[in-house]
Amino acid sequence: MKSCPVCQSDNIDNAQFCFQCGTNLADTGLSNLIATGMLPTQMVLQERYVIEEKLGQGGMGAVYRASDRRLSTVNWAIKEMSSQAITSPLERQQVRESFRNEAEMLAALAHPNLPRVIDHFEQDGKAYLVMEFVPGDTLISYVQQEGLPQPLSRVLSWVRQLCDVLTYLHTSNPPIIFRDLKPANIMLTPQGQLKLIDFGIARLFKPGKEKDTQAFGTAGYSAPEQYGRGQTDARSDVYSLGVLVHQLVTGYDPTQTPFRLPFATELQASISREVSEVLSKAVDNDPAQRFTTIHEFRDALFRATEQTMASTQAVAPHIEPGTIYSRPATPSYPPATSGVYGAENTVTYQPPAPVQQTTVLASASRWLGIASGIVMGIAVVVVLAGVLIETGDDTPIQGFGIIIGMPALVTGPIASTMAVIALATQQTAHSKFGRRHALIGFVTGAITILFCCVILFLAGATDA
Ligand SMILES: Nc1ncnc2c1ncn2[C@@H]1O[C@H](COP(=O)(O)OP(=O)(O)O)[C@@H](O)[C@H]1O
Ligand SMILES: [Mg+2]
Repeated sequence: MKSCPVCQSDNIDNAQFCFQCGTNLADTGLSNLIATGMLPTQMVLQERYVIEEKLGQGGMGAVYRASDRRLSTVNWAIKEMSSQAITSPLERQQVRESFRNEAEMLAALAHPNLPRVIDHFEQDGKAYLVMEFVPGDTLISYVQQEGLPQPLSRVLSWVRQLCDVLTYLHTSNPPIIFRDLKPANIMLTPQGQLKLIDFGIARLFKPGKEKDTQAFGTAGYSAPEQYGRGQTDARSDVYSLGVLVHQLVTGYDPTQTPFRLPFATELQASISREVSEVLSKAVDNDPAQRFTTIHEFRDALFRATEQTMASTQAVAPHIEPGTIYSRPATPSYPPATSGVYGAENTVTYQPPAPVQQTTVLASASRWLGIASGIVMGIAVVVVLAGVLIETGDDTPIQGFGIIIGMPALVTGPIASTMAVIALATQQTAHSKFGRRHALIGFVTGAITILFCCVILFLAGATDA
């Protein structure tokens, strides 16, 4: 008997085509069995799950929508992962074990903002995780269609749900750190409910030591301690949530400047200084300076928005009690009446304000430093010419050179001092070229002083 890899019907040993679905049995390449994302539609897994369509394909595996032969009214999302990249048989065995453990652990989770995991199995050398199919779009496709920034009230309704589910994960035993929070890993249902979709289970299938030592996450959203051997804890998810909220309310792409986000209020004037400060604390590069828990972050954020709204006479948002099992908040926008999200929910795209290029102090230090350096450079040339031409006590050319250099002797150190002050300010740090300009100011100021020493040396040498 020869089993058809597509529909799993039994065929006679020398059959060329499957009597049931017509698949060319001789031509089913081995590569199809190894690579992920190659399962044809109508292929049956475990005599139960019928592949209907591919939903996504990433570096680590693929996700399909599947119908169920036993429960005809249900659709599942099936994540397919391959251990083919792992060459050592021992390591592959360990990966299979870890996969089973993690799948069992995920199946034990139950939260309205997580898809339920209902099954896992291995077939043809690949591992599969079966979970609740979430209708709707990922948050990244949603914001691509609707534009950024999103209104603060809508972002807050999302924040409530994300804080609920992250707190649930962080307080489970053992605590689970999500580690890869970003718009591509969050689904938004037509009812406005968010679900975290991408658990790190796929990282098990990374070859070699990479899975322990390399960053697991996405540049821009992952906290600095996720790179290298730093310990990650709840504060790493606080960081990613801070980045996500910052992006949603400002429209700023965090992948442009990882670990350096401009102040939200500078990008988007409607965001208050209080809210900006809360976001800056959440995305501090030092975990010790961040909020310790998601709950603290959430409280601070809602308090800051309440303050802002009170001061602008607006209606303060309703904060529900922070019970982690509570149903997610009703979205702040009306239910859809047409299309997936409803026409009335369309947000007009407002391009974010540009990031400040530099600061006055940094720019001034740069120009003053360059001018001082040039003037002192000319003075050096003149003095050197005097040293070469003049003899005896009469040295007018050298004197002239020294006079030229006098003002630069004052302005050079001023440029360096201004640069140091500029480098110490937050504004310079958050501007695009501020640090670079201040550094130029400092270096050219220092070169001016160096030139001055050269002049003194030359003058001293002739005196001697
Ligand atoms: N439970 C689910 N329900 C519906 N679609 C899903 C589900 N899980 C994943 N997807 C779809 O599959 C895509 C890839 O899923 P993800 O788990 O993020 O995999 P990857 O490892 O490629 O990042 C998502 O963008 C989403 O469209
Ligand atoms: Mg993903």
